Amino acid sequence: GLPDRVTIYEVGPRDGLQNESAIVDVAVKAEFIRRLADAGLTTIETTSFVHPKWVPQLADAAELLAELDLPDVVRAPVLVPNERGLDRALAANVREIAIFASATETFAAKNLNSTLDEQFAMFTPTIQRAMAEGLTVRGYVSMCYGDPWEGAVPSRQVVEVGARLIDLGCHELSLGDTIGVATPGQVTALIGAFTAAGVGVDKLAVHFHDTYGQALANTLTALREGVTTVDSSAGGLGGCPYAGSATGNLATEDLLWQLDGLGIRTGVDLEKLVATSVWMAEKLGKPSPSRVVQALAG
Ligand code: HMG
Ligand code: MG
Repeated sequence: GLPDRVTIYEVGPRDGLQNESAIVDVAVKAEFIRRLADAGLTTIETTSFVHPKWVPQLADAAELLAELDLPDVVRAPVLVPNERGLDRALAANVREIAIFASATETFAAKNLNSTLDEQFAMFTPTIQRAMAEGLTVRGYVSMCYGDPWEGAVPSRQVVEVGARLIDLGCHELSLGDTIGVATPGQVTALIGAFTAAGVGVDKLAVHFHDTYGQALANTLTALREGVTTVDSSAGGLGGCPYAGSATGNLATEDLLWQLDGLGIRTGVDLEKLVATSVWMAEKLGKPSPSRVVQALAG
């Protein structure tokens, strides 16, 4: 069956804007996030406390958070890779963070300057200290289905990394199809591999990029497997600067069109969201790749 309700985990301000070549003004980012919240999104990943040289697009993280005054119902997690990032997040009064692990050696090297083992040497003290400070910690696993340098990624390798994040205290795992190559059979198989390893579907979220146009089919498959948290990016902004073949995330509007059609509640207003993505596309000087934005804004 399908769930009655789905939580949309909005990643546009982070996964979207980190990949734009233009550096968006902090006031525009703040307005973008305010508009997303006004459209009814209650989980918005706002920015990253990563090394500013690695992702200059999000170097203004502290400034952005100081400008935001979101209602209490809105959760505003941020990406944090290490203790230095955690220090900066704590100084900005962040309550939720997301750690991001790689399932493959090559992407761990390119994205985190680490080996698979070294990434855990970074995450372990970061998660422990975050939890001692009362923060909620999400865990991402990247390259869950395919990696541009290593090809197909064995489920066993993904589950090993994900289970380790859960053991460290992550409340949720987001399974990243970083380069958007997954197809529905792989989604079913990976969720099955996690549940067989004792990580329940209630702990799993899905994160699809839409490079090969499979994101909605993959999402519906995950919903049928019992997943109720779906990551998406308003207007389909996004990608990953350290994985060249990645394009934008599943567009939140495309997701919402499907969920609304299925009668699955999200609390999000499609019209307001489309207006926000049209506004953002004007700021970026290029049209939104979302089919639903194009259809409704046309
Ligand atoms: P490194 O160069 O190995 O860092 O980078 P280091 O620990 O050797 O430190 C070097 C210097 O950087 C030091 O300064 C540190 O203080 C400083 P120095 O002593 O030389 O003056 N530093 C920092 N400064 C500010 N904030 C920090 C920080 N950390 C160290 N947090 C590091 C290692 C992990 C920091 C780097 O590789 C990095 O920032 N990577 C982030 C890459 C990134 O953001 N990628 C995109 C997000 S992942 C993604 O998009 C996938 C996802 O969407 C899911 C999916 O689709 O699969 C989540
Ligand atoms: Mg991503």
